[in-house]
Amino acid sequence: MQTSLFTFSDSREKIEEDINVCKKCALSETKTNTVPGEGGFRKKVMFVGEAPGKWEDIKGRPFVGAAGKYLDELLQSIGLSREDVFITNIVKCRPPGNRDPTDEEIAACSPYLDRQIAVMKPKIIVPLGRFSSGYILNKFGFNMKSISAVQGKVFRGDVIIIPMYHPAAALYHGKWKPELERSFEVLKNVLEEVQV
Ligand code: URA
Ligand code: SF4
Repeated sequence: MQTSLFTFSDSREKIEEDINVCKKCALSETKTNTVPGEGGFRKKVMFVGEAPGKWEDIKGRPFVGAAGKYLDELLQSIGLSREDVFITNIVKCRPPGNRDPTDEEIAACSPYLDRQIAVMKPKIIVPLGRFSSGYILNKFGFNMKSISAVQGKVFRGDVIIIPMYHPAAALYHGKWKPELERSFEVLKNVLEEVQV
């Protein structure tokens, strides 16, 4: 392969640096810390949540509040630790008061997620909740009618996508918890068939 002087070589560190100084949307003015994401490098699975909440904003780390505790339990239930996966969000700064991210904020921030996917090369992407499920399915050429229609299903394309209910939504709507727990069983089975 020919190499060029102008080859752009991206890295996890470069993406984080760019996120940390980003002012592409107004969330940069109200956030405490950016939350680029964390976990192991180039793992088979990438989880994509929605946006940092109060504790994530304070600590600069993804899923460290109540939803994060539940996510940890779900991971443990299929024998995974946080270092076995990479966890990030579609929006890297906290929307004030935990409101939903806007289309503009998602459009401004999603290029960072695209770069993380390009660098981390996950075999399986698990979008959590309707915003990241819609974005990830669309990016890989699938449509989403509603989160309830796609959650727990396996979409096979350039990557394997398993959309799931958001853990915070499942904590709120208790009837979604068994569905989310079933989705993790689906993930466990798919992981067994996927080589690194
Ligand atoms: N909810 C999310 O979507 N992401 C987090 O990091 C925390 C809660
Ligand atoms: Fe930049 Fe994303 Fe933060 Fe907006 S949310 S300022 S696009 S890093």
